[in-house]
Amino acid sequence: MKILLTGGAGFIGSHTAVALIENGFEPIIVDDFRNSEPFVIKNIEKIVGKKITSYSSDIGNKEEVKNILQKENPIGVIHFAADKAVNESVVNPMKYYQNNVLNLINFLEVIDIAKINSFVFSSSCTVYGVPDKIPVKETASIKPAFSPYGYTKQVGERILNDFFKSLPSSSLTLLRYFNPIGAHPSGLIGELPIGVPSNLVPYITQTAIGKRKKLTVFGKDYDTKDGTCIRDYIHVVDLANAHVASLKKGLESKDSIKVFNVGTGKGASVLDVITAFEKVSKHDLNYGFGPRRAGDVPKIYSDNTLIKHELDWDAKFSLEDCLEHSWNWEKNLIKFKYKSAKKQD
Ligand code: UFG
Repeated sequence: MKILLTGGAGFIGSHTAVALIENGFEPIIVDDFRNSEPFVIKNIEKIVGKKITSYSSDIGNKEEVKNILQKENPIGVIHFAADKAVNESVVNPMKYYQNNVLNLINFLEVIDIAKINSFVFSSSCTVYGVPDKIPVKETASIKPAFSPYGYTKQVGERILNDFFKSLPSSSLTLLRYFNPIGAHPSGLIGELPIGVPSNLVPYITQTAIGKRKKLTVFGKDYDTKDGTCIRDYIHVVDLANAHVASLKKGLESKDSIKVFNVGTGKGASVLDVITAFEKVSKHDLNYGFGPRRAGDVPKIYSDNTLIKHELDWDAKFSLEDCLEHSWNWEKNLIKFKYKSAKKQD
């Protein structure tokens, strides 16, 4: 059973490719390797012990994508291909509307939806903006987004909702990720930030290994238990398994539209993450406090009751597991040649 993964060489895509194979599916990766690395395909193959089919193509290239679809005939799609840097989207919004919205439309125009029984979309908890109630449920209102990136996820969800409502025989699942971190326990695949990381965990591991001098904790006067922001950090392997569970459910139900939060249901502060990292890495992290970062929501974590109930999914990895795996990955990176390694600053 072939499943097309757009952006399948990226952080979440690569872990999902592994999870699909472990569940008897055959992933077909389409990735233009703009923000990912060819060695990732080799490493997925090492983990699963078999060859992977992959195409180096831009998902916005209708002709190429059409040919791939005709050749491979997948029964499901997981759509990851998108840009995801919040700050960059503020500086270069058209790149985000082009890659995340226009390319989604182009892609939907060429897929033969009659043959795609289950479509899973990478969305984000960013669609909730500053939620009125925490833990946040899927029924919470969609608030004005803080960034063009956030809008592209809201618009993507909307386009897909309207598109799939008009189709009688395909299922759509929108997965709203909380904060994906961690890496594969093998240490062979993980996150590859380009340039200076804007996310917390890669910044921590790069500081500990010496690529960065010091971590700045953005804000210490939030109305939270220790004054730092609260997030729901989810291990990327747990997140990958949520994609497989969604895909399977979609294949069974054929004409449903579902929305699920994918988080642990637990909040951790920035200081909790640092403490857990110091414990598992046995490193004292060089960090200090700075001003708040514009656009940061003080506190958000998921209500994950729905996904637990409907997909029989649960997060298996702890925060410490996540950080241990992220740390192993950082230490392993020296072994791999990749272009973003040259763009560290
Ligand atoms: N943080 C620091 N120092 C850093 C980096 C981050 O203190 O150097 C803090 C942030 O202020 C925040 C927490 O660590 O409190 C987490 O920040 P991340 O940048 O790792 O993650 P965000 O919660 O900002 O962003 C994530 C995803 C986005 C998504 C957003 C939705 O990366 O794609 O959640 O809230 F849009």
